[in-house]
Amino acid sequence: MKKEELWKGVEEYINDKIVKQESFMLDALIESSKAGLPPINVDPPEGKLMHIILKSIGAKRALEVGVLGGFSGLWIASAMKGGKLIGLEKSEKHVRVAMENIKNAGFQESVEIIEGDAILSLKKLIEDKVNPFDFILIDANKEPYLEYFLLAMKLSHSGTIIFVDNMVWGGQVISDSTENRDILGIRRLYNDLQKRNDVDATVVQTVGSKGYDGFAVIRVK
Ligand code: DHB
Ligand code: MG
Repeated sequence: MKKEELWKGVEEYINDKIVKQESFMLDALIESSKAGLPPINVDPPEGKLMHIILKSIGAKRALEVGVLGGFSGLWIASAMKGGKLIGLEKSEKHVRVAMENIKNAGFQESVEIIEGDAILSLKKLIEDKVNPFDFILIDANKEPYLEYFLLAMKLSHSGTIIFVDNMVWGGQVISDSTENRDILGIRRLYNDLQKRNDVDATVVQTVGSKGYDGFAVIRVK
């Protein structure tokens, strides 16, 4: 068996045994696929980990940079009671598919999606002096990862968890490429994290249905 098939098989086993996705999550993936969205959503074990973290910290306000079809948003929204998730998404089509998935799951009252460039939306939230968020997911285009993170820090309080997807990028993060903009974007975030002392941060490497990758978990001190 190829190792990728093994990773996928084990993930299916884990999902089936213990992740236990709500049917609306499976529906969201089916609808996203039907609408032609790329299958680059977080995998269910990662969604469930975020869900557990949100519950553990009693999160009431969450922010998501990059919504895609709303799959991660459903893991986030369903972890909060009386909470609010703001999603930032550039693609009009993704916003439409995500809102439909969120409505179908019954979370339309607690989720707002702001369509547009996330940098501008983040700056607007800062200008508007919105209350800080308890949990922030960054899972959008990789080139401006550092900018997203720096703006996310301004929307955080002590104890905020910032979760960042795709921090290993198939291992390419340590390739000697000096050209690939995604890799360079991800590395700029590592370089910033290396220097800061106002967060506790780690990256966990993962294998599974999405191949080899990893995510950062960052806690604001
Ligand atoms: C890909 C995966 C992701 O998780 C993402 O956020 C963007 C792209 C990919 O595999 O191309
Ligand atoms: Mg991702």
